[in-house]
Amino acid sequence: MTDRTHSVDDVTGHRRMRRLRKADWQRRMVQENRLTVDDLIWPIFVVPGSDIMDPIAAMPGVFRMSIDKAVEAAKEAADLGIPAIATFPNVDMGLRDETGSHILVADNLINQTTAAIKKAVPNVGIITDVALDPFTSHGHDGILREGEIVNDETVDQLVRAAVAQADAGSDIIAPSDMMDGRIGAIRRGLDAAGHQAVGIMSYATKFASCYYGPYREAISTSGLLKGDKKTYYIDPANGTEAIRDAALDVEEGADMLMVKPGLPYLDICWRMKEAFGLPVFAYQVSGEYSQIKAAAANGWIDGERAMLETLLSFKRAGCDGILTYFAVEVARHLARKG
Ligand code: PBG
Repeated sequence: MTDRTHSVDDVTGHRRMRRLRKADWQRRMVQENRLTVDDLIWPIFVVPGSDIMDPIAAMPGVFRMSIDKAVEAAKEAADLGIPAIATFPNVDMGLRDETGSHILVADNLINQTTAAIKKAVPNVGIITDVALDPFTSHGHDGILREGEIVNDETVDQLVRAAVAQADAGSDIIAPSDMMDGRIGAIRRGLDAAGHQAVGIMSYATKFASCYYGPYREAISTSGLLKGDKKTYYIDPANGTEAIRDAALDVEEGADMLMVKPGLPYLDICWRMKEAFGLPVFAYQVSGEYSQIKAAAANGWIDGERAMLETLLSFKRAGCDGILTYFAVEVARHLARKG
């Protein structure tokens, strides 16, 4: 025997991982996860008026659209094969008040948008956020009394708002407020109103994150928000608490779960999928989108590759889909690839 003790062959034996990486065809053969258009949910912003495409400075490529433009955008999304759209309103300042009462108005901006899109593009799913923040004069997700967000009164209001959204044609209600008990209450409210087929996608684990900054500019709440949301969103330090919170939502009847933000919380995506087996969605939030756009604009990273890599990582982490502002851009990319 010649002395080959220190050769690579002896160290690795017959296992050479690089055999599976040697050529594009081989890599495609063994690729474990794939991003498809079916994984995408597109969040859009709507404003009152018509023929408006108002660029959001902190989110390059994203616009506040009037309903007519939102309908055109929904058509494009549906043509690309995007299954669903999530809508967020920028409500007139004059309609915002202490309790967010305008959320209950049957033909408010969000419900008008739902009705218009459903009429023109019936084959795209509409997911409506139910939370008070676009409607309150203080930017919080709940009713504020003497410096406190009051839980149960907020939940009552959210139930009525969810029924109004379902009446307008919303397919999926997505409570994003993190009040306790809201999933069960909304389920009962929807059922009592005859909306058994309307699903609930719970923002089950929503963290008190810095990454929502550009969104707050998009719906004009950044200037309004007094204090922070730490008494109702989850502490970014806590994973087990997040799973306990999601477990309550599952018990209360959530059909689907969401993790928000996405990329800093991939461990939570994985744990949620393992723990409950329900469909899990990640929300790649505004700050995640904008940091990729900003670095790409500076030539510091390849924006398209960062978009694809981050979205694929959600699939690897066990997610069934992703809410992303990149949805149309990535759907066009996937369509080009064929
Ligand atoms: C609040 C809400 C937030 C987002 C959507 N709905 C967070 C917040 O403002 O505290 C963030 C979405 C994003 O950043 O893209 N109900």
